Amino acid sequence: MRTQIVAGNWKMNNTYSEGIDLINQLIEKSDSIKDAQLIIAPPYILTSEAAKIIKNKNIDLAGQNCSNHPDGAYTGEISASMLKYAGANYVILGHSERRAYYHETDQIINEKIKLSLENELMPIICCGEVLNEREENKQFEIVAKQINGMLKEISPEDIKNIIIAYEPVWAIGTGKTATPDQAQEIHLFIREKIKNIYGTEIANNISILYGGSCKPSNAKELFANPDVDGGLIGGASLKADDFIEIANSF
Ligand code: 13P
Repeated sequence: MRTQIVAGNWKMNNTYSEGIDLINQLIEKSDSIKDAQLIIAPPYILTSEAAKIIKNKNIDLAGQNCSNHPDGAYTGEISASMLKYAGANYVILGHSERRAYYHETDQIINEKIKLSLENELMPIICCGEVLNEREENKQFEIVAKQINGMLKEISPEDIKNIIIAYEPVWAIGTGKTATPDQAQEIHLFIREKIKNIYGTEIANNISILYGGSCKPSNAKELFANPDVDGGLIGGASLKADDFIEIANSF
């Protein structure tokens, strides 16, 4: 059976103390979670402290991004090895906000994936189309291109340590969610794509998460789809009760 995952991408939200408070609330409430692995991705300044607080708890830790360089003169950047050292085991890569605002290409994301894997961080790699691409029914073409580019030269051994997140850009932070049928259709397409590259066993084992206005009121019907293995949650991951309710929606 595939790992079911609910990951919270906090983005650039919460003060330091609000962040610590949220983590403590999540720890308190996370005992109820039976069928999902819980991951949080707070801003970098919280990574080390978060790692200490969640040690031996039911929650794992991700970075929201890392550099495509191993080290050097890259002001403001954080390397994969630094994230690992700070206590993260996962890293979100290729988020649409990184692609749109910081001009990240599939080539750059591919470099980040390789560095993350070398540093034993499991990448959660994001793909998804923008609104006009969906309106022109180009979502399959766009997602296929992103997957091909991001996974260039990634070996069958390494793909086993990667999680895919489908996040239609038109659904992120907009309150508009993909319908369960829309999500299932493209998740199945992604799984078929992985099958074509890496074979059936790997495709059947890879977790594919949905992201984009996922909340307690729609998580159940999204997660009920056979190819939706959980969610990458933005806004609703900032409220402990909502995030836990989503994680209990399998
Ligand atoms: P929202 O859940 O706020 O739409 O954000 C989704 C997202 O971008 C998670 O990475």
